[in-house]
Amino acid sequence: MSTPAGYQSPAVTVASALPKRKVESSVLIVPVVSVGDEPRASVVAADHLDAGSVAEIEAALAALGAKGGAEQVTRVPVASLPVGSVLAVGLGKSRDEYSAETIRRAAGAAARSLNGVESVLTTLSVLDTEAAVEGLILGSYRFTEFRSGKTAPKDAGLRKITALTADTKAATKEAAARGEAIATAVATARDFVNTPPSHLFPDEFAKRAKALGEDAGLEVEVLDDKALTKGGYGGIIGVGKGSSRLPRLVRLAHRGGKGRKAKTVALVGKGITFDTGGISIKPAANMHHMTSDMGGAAAVIATVVLAARLKLPIDVIATVPMAENMPSGTAQRPGDVLTQYGGITVEVLNTDAEGRLILADAIVRACEDEPDYLIETSTLTGAQMVALGARTPGVMGSDEFRDRVAEISQSVGENGWAMPLPEELKDDLKSTVADLANVSASRNAGMLVAGTYLREFVADGVAWAHIDIAVPAYNSGGPWGYTPKGGTGVPTRTMFAVLEDIAVNG
Ligand code: BES
Ligand code: MN
Ligand code: ZN
Repeated sequence: MSTPAGYQSPAVTVASALPKRKVESSVLIVPVVSVGDEPRASVVAADHLDAGSVAEIEAALAALGAKGGAEQVTRVPVASLPVGSVLAVGLGKSRDEYSAETIRRAAGAAARSLNGVESVLTTLSVLDTEAAVEGLILGSYRFTEFRSGKTAPKDAGLRKITALTADTKAATKEAAARGEAIATAVATARDFVNTPPSHLFPDEFAKRAKALGEDAGLEVEVLDDKALTKGGYGGIIGVGKGSSRLPRLVRLAHRGGKGRKAKTVALVGKGITFDTGGISIKPAANMHHMTSDMGGAAAVIATVVLAARLKLPIDVIATVPMAENMPSGTAQRPGDVLTQYGGITVEVLNTDAEGRLILADAIVRACEDEPDYLIETSTLTGAQMVALGARTPGVMGSDEFRDRVAEISQSVGENGWAMPLPEELKDDLKSTVADLANVSASRNAGMLVAGTYLREFVADGVAWAHIDIAVPAYNSGGPWGYTPKGGTGVPTRTMFAVLEDIAVNG
């Protein structure tokens, strides 16, 4: 099977003025805010528009009753501008400054309402070039690989973005290019999540990760099932052996810190290509959501590739375990004991708590590289949604680094939230026959129990963070902001922002 091209990001250019010639097929996306007691939409960041055009846009919006509410979109014809129409998008109430996330969401909402338009210009980029480009690309994302002529879209989607900016200096171009690169990485993660388990199983996932890694100039290593058995990866083998499609461990290294006293960051992501629960099988309702159980792996692969593409001056080493959790005559049983990589023994009381088993092996392996930091992310527990809802990842780990990761996650709009790992939970993981049990007998604090399990495998002295993205990785509700249905790519932008922060601040 050859690797499909996946989502192709539109071309991005910056320009300091509107074009001279009118192009009927293009649309100009313009931010508006809500002003007044009887709110009306008022154009902001209008440096590239003459007063007459602004008046024309505002009059048309007033006639339609548009109020400039956040993410509200309204399309109006404006004869005096060199485009087919103007798409006004709301930023909400008028204020002095708009956060990057407000711009990103408005851009995303605008992109989602384009209905087949292939070329856009925007003045959102006057407010924040990177966020505007990022939001437009993320909002225009779509996954069409499995649509035949019967339901495939007739248009090519968004192909060209012209970001209007104050100047076209190197720094401005770089901001646009960063937005493009980051959004493209998120799209890569989404493509992986959206690819169904019929087509994305451990060997295929490993091949695609390898191809992406080699393309980005990464060092690549793939361990197959034989190498995993020989190497003592009992967790990955135990989980993967119920499937006819055997497990893999992929390692991707970006060596950006060469010759410098640079930090090393380990990334680990859960790559369960499908989670039936195994012998502790899940109920049928919504089991298909478990196509997203490799969301952590997808984000980690996209992040290390992005680190190489944007030449981060640090070492980033991704360790990605991949397995399919199936019930069968060769599957592990509840009550089995396995030996995790590194020697800790585990009583598998519930085969549906499989993520922590493959992750423990991967974390121990990742720590052999003696990283300064370790970020691990996984669709680990249904309890994540109980605790924090569908859009808020739970961040656990060593206190300082956990708080740093959560804060950065907030700043990029992925909204991770710091959670504790109370000491007493460790007692819940006692086993009568092995060093540890993989689940506790109690239903309390399921997300934190899983984090407590993982903590046992992190080497002393490594600052670590565990990001539970069980539900945030996959949007099963309606689209919102720049987030479509299906794979979200969370927490790619969080991890990349943390890597950048480490590159600058150590
Ligand atoms: N992949 C699931 C977690 C999950 C649940 C992700 C819902 C997305 C949506 C994980 O492998 C799992 O099954 N966890 C169990 C753990 C339990 C057996 C301790 C769970 O959350 O029920
Ligand atoms: Mn499970
Ligand atoms: Zn799972």
